[in-house]
Amino acid sequence: MSASRWDDDPDLGEVIVAEDALQERVAQLGVQLTADYHGRPPLLVGVLKGAFVFMSDLARAIRLPVEVDVMAVASYGSATTTSGVVRIVKDLDSDLTGRHVLVVEDIVDSGLTLSYLRRSLLTRQPASFEVCALLVREGRQRAKLDLRYVGFHIPSRFVVGYGLDVAERYRNLPDIRIYQGSVPVD
Ligand code: IMP
Ligand code: MG
Repeated sequence: MSASRWDDDPDLGEVIVAEDALQERVAQLGVQLTADYHGRPPLLVGVLKGAFVFMSDLARAIRLPVEVDVMAVASYGSATTTSGVVRIVKDLDSDLTGRHVLVVEDIVDSGLTLSYLRRSLLTRQPASFEVCALLVREGRQRAKLDLRYVGFHIPSRFVVGYGLDVAERYRNLPDIRIYQGSVPVD
């Protein structure tokens, strides 16, 4: 493949997860989820915006009649450190009662977003509740998280690509790379 325009961007560092590794892992997760949810198709709940690329690939890798919904939470501004504050910016359209909910997350860092989501969504009486996180940043979780499905564990660096952004940029990078630029402050 020819060098992409991304390779000339001085703000982008090392590739942490290559495109083919992403595709292979998503396919594996799809096989696993297809087996685990046989006979009880899941409602995929994508956490916007970061999960949109992962969820679109994952949904197609699951050979079951899944349903898809999205919600948006805010836990970060444009900065690369957590504010610790989580709020629902856009709620789900679906009623979760009796549904097999599978939350699809881009990255788990402190785990604050996920523990908040879990608490909030469990009050809606789903039949089951699991999480599929593409990335888990090592050594950062402050809350105990029960993550059944994880794509990759990554080192403690800020990353972009495959849905992940810094100030809304780089979401369409086809791989995941270290972001080494300066961070705009809100
Ligand atoms: P947590 O609540 O600290 O676990 O943060 C999770 C959210 O922060 C993710 O869903 C992302 O939107 C964002 N985030 C955390 N780390 C990164 C990163 O390295 N790049 C881009 N976004 C990130
Ligand atoms: Mg973000």
